[in-house]
Amino acid sequence: MKYGYFDDQNREYVITQPDTPLPWINYLGSEAYFGLISNTAGGYSFYRDARLRRITRYRYNNVPYDFGGRYLYIRDNASQEFWSPSWQPTQRKLERYSCRHGMGYTIIGSDYQGIEATTRYFVPLDENLEIWQFTITNHRQRAAELSVFSAIEFCLWDALDDSSNFQRNFSIGEVEIEDGVIYHKTEYRERRDHFSYFACSEKVAGFDTARDAFLGPYRGWDQPAAVESGSSRNSVAHGWAPVGSHHIRISLDPGESRQVLFVLGYQENPPEEKFDPPDSLVVNKKRAKQTIARYLAPANADAAFERLRLHWNELLGVFEVSTPDVHTNRMVNIWNAYQCMATFNMSRSASFYESGIGRGLGFRDSNQDLLGFVHMVPSRARQRILDLAATQLPTGGAYHQYQPLTKRGNNDIGSGFNDDPHWLILGVSAYLKETGDWTILDELLPYDNRPGSEEPLYQHLERSFRYTIGRLGPHGLPLIGRADWNDCLNLNCFSDTPGQSFQTTTNKDGKVAESVFIAALFVLAGRELAQIACRRGLAAEASHYLSEVAKMETTILKHGWDGRWFLRAYDDFGRKVGSEENAEGKIFVETQGLCPLAGIGLTDGLAVQALESVRRLLATEHGIVLQQPAYSKYYLELGEISSYPPGYKENAGIFCHNNPWVIIAETRLGNGDAAHDYYSRINPSAREKISEVHRCEPYVYAQMIAGRDAPSHGEAKNSWLTGTAAWNYHAVTQWILGIRTDYDGLRIEPVIPKSWPGFRACRKFRGVCYEIEVQRAEEPGNLVSLEVDGRAIEGNLIPLPPAGVKTVTVKATLR
Ligand code: BGC
Ligand code: NOJ
Repeated sequence: MKYGYFDDQNREYVITQPDTPLPWINYLGSEAYFGLISNTAGGYSFYRDARLRRITRYRYNNVPYDFGGRYLYIRDNASQEFWSPSWQPTQRKLERYSCRHGMGYTIIGSDYQGIEATTRYFVPLDENLEIWQFTITNHRQRAAELSVFSAIEFCLWDALDDSSNFQRNFSIGEVEIEDGVIYHKTEYRERRDHFSYFACSEKVAGFDTARDAFLGPYRGWDQPAAVESGSSRNSVAHGWAPVGSHHIRISLDPGESRQVLFVLGYQENPPEEKFDPPDSLVVNKKRAKQTIARYLAPANADAAFERLRLHWNELLGVFEVSTPDVHTNRMVNIWNAYQCMATFNMSRSASFYESGIGRGLGFRDSNQDLLGFVHMVPSRARQRILDLAATQLPTGGAYHQYQPLTKRGNNDIGSGFNDDPHWLILGVSAYLKETGDWTILDELLPYDNRPGSEEPLYQHLERSFRYTIGRLGPHGLPLIGRADWNDCLNLNCFSDTPGQSFQTTTNKDGKVAESVFIAALFVLAGRELAQIACRRGLAAEASHYLSEVAKMETTILKHGWDGRWFLRAYDDFGRKVGSEENAEGKIFVETQGLCPLAGIGLTDGLAVQALESVRRLLATEHGIVLQQPAYSKYYLELGEISSYPPGYKENAGIFCHNNPWVIIAETRLGNGDAAHDYYSRINPSAREKISEVHRCEPYVYAQMIAGRDAPSHGEAKNSWLTGTAAWNYHAVTQWILGIRTDYDGLRIEPVIPKSWPGFRACRKFRGVCYEIEVQRAEEPGNLVSLEVDGRAIEGNLIPLPPAGVKTVTVKATLR
């Protein structure tokens, strides 16, 4: 069953039924001012940090789901009936409803009793505000006398404090109202230099800023007293809950249409210019007023939308494909790339499942996110790498997270996730391959942000590598620390106390438990570091890295192979994890994917066996589960993984993030059919037809799909913010389609399904546009012969063209 359809031409998903199984959300904003918006206008906005600068209030896990939003009400003043054109919050049965989620904007429209209302929500590029373009049309035979009410609820900035510290918060809310513009200024009188505003292009008949006055006692957002009675109370909030609501009256002749603009924004003032007059406590609105005036002009709002559209044309124009599979095309050309932008911006902080108060930017997460983002805006990727590296610890280890506002490592979570440092090497190598910008390696960056500790980025990578060499366990495999990629395999945690964090509790000194996963990651990252060193003329270093890598590979083959698949780890007692010997959790997916991906087991048949075991034991119609058999009870020595009921999350859920490792592994063995088959099983667009089972958005990946041990097998959870986005983008573009960035140019090595006659792609790379056509000869093989601008070349690496060349035509024949 479907709840809408893809409009690929407009790069939109169109939802035609408001009561989707879960709120289906979209993101607004590009760099600083962000918002989440659901298909029924739920969601909230924030400036840079979803916890510390929350602009509007949202109630997570509410009943019903998804409360707090960018609401509008229309009231027919003759019949006194009122409704919400976005369905929520009034839930009136609309005669037509549609929500178009697009690239950085959402349009929600509906018809009710001859009145059509459509709102386009978006955040202009380079501005700290959002625009709601509301258009209302009278399709009745007679004139309509209408009232429109807007409604948002302000958050008192720190979203965590806002949802807990009521004894203080009920007394601090403050607003100002001037010319119909509502200014929210809680705490501005003391330590904050920022405020928010909510403006409207029409002359207002009234306003409300006190929630109690607007809603009335014991009423919810579905029936505000002010709306019901048809007039605002002109309330001025003092304490309690400040809101923003405008009331405007609109008379429409038959067939007449009107546009009303609302602007919700965030403004900072220099501390010495906070007040106007300076010796007062009145907010200085000079800057804000200019911005408001600009965007309340319809032509300027339209122009800002057009700029946003062109911006996305450009971003998505970097890689475009046309294959025989619509789901591949749609995800690569539109939605997967778009999701990569969201994960780059948000990391794992704010979604419908991440409350925006919990997590900063993950070190591991943010590095991996670069894989799917770096081609879109390399300059932002560069800055992200520098920010991440500056939080690295002198040991080469890393804070697991850092806070986006301060760019400092998060002490509460700390470090000790022993895979973290290697993701920095992989992030940097992805950047170098995309851009060829070797200057980044010379950037001087501190450790732990301490002035005086600066070293070139290259040295940071070297320390990442050495971090593992200095932390090997009894088998010569890397010590796992708190956890590796699998945050829930906590082998040193031994937590038996309720409420302890599995991520930060460490009860063992960590000298025994080892990770085969980190070993494979070390091999992968070490090989990249060697390539980087080579190109910097550091031959001795490069051969040192390679000899360490070779040693580790030998260790993996000796102590990391279980007979028919790769082992996962050794626990604190030196016992195997992910082995035939175990009663549960015999085989884990991570090492089966990552070892071949890192080049381990490719020539000795081990990769073939490992992937055969994946197919036999882990693959389901909904994707590949994380391990089998699921843990049926809590194992003190394994930690959080066994705390989940079987089939969910890391306990044998389909963790979509590591499916692409298996996909890449399959391509490394030349199995295009298997790779694309796995790719399609979790591809959200391909799963659209089972939306009632999948339940999450059909246009973006979810972190997890319930595994075969769960009663809800096939149900997705935690959509949007997941490493799945970057890894699937990387897997399909660079390994299945095989258009792969490399240090010295673009490599073409597709491993596509046998049934595909070929495909076309356009890839912009280092300022050159590559027009690529891939065609199969009769035989179904993967051997590539390349013709570049009509001339046959040796191998599959396209040499960089001479300066000034803007277009290169590539013909690849597979046999
Ligand atoms: C989740 C993991 C997540 C970790 C860190 C755990 O509860 O299962 O997926 O990475 O928390 O926040
Ligand atoms: C989600 C986390 O964001 C990611 O870093 C981790 O690797 C996975 N969960 C697996 O536990």
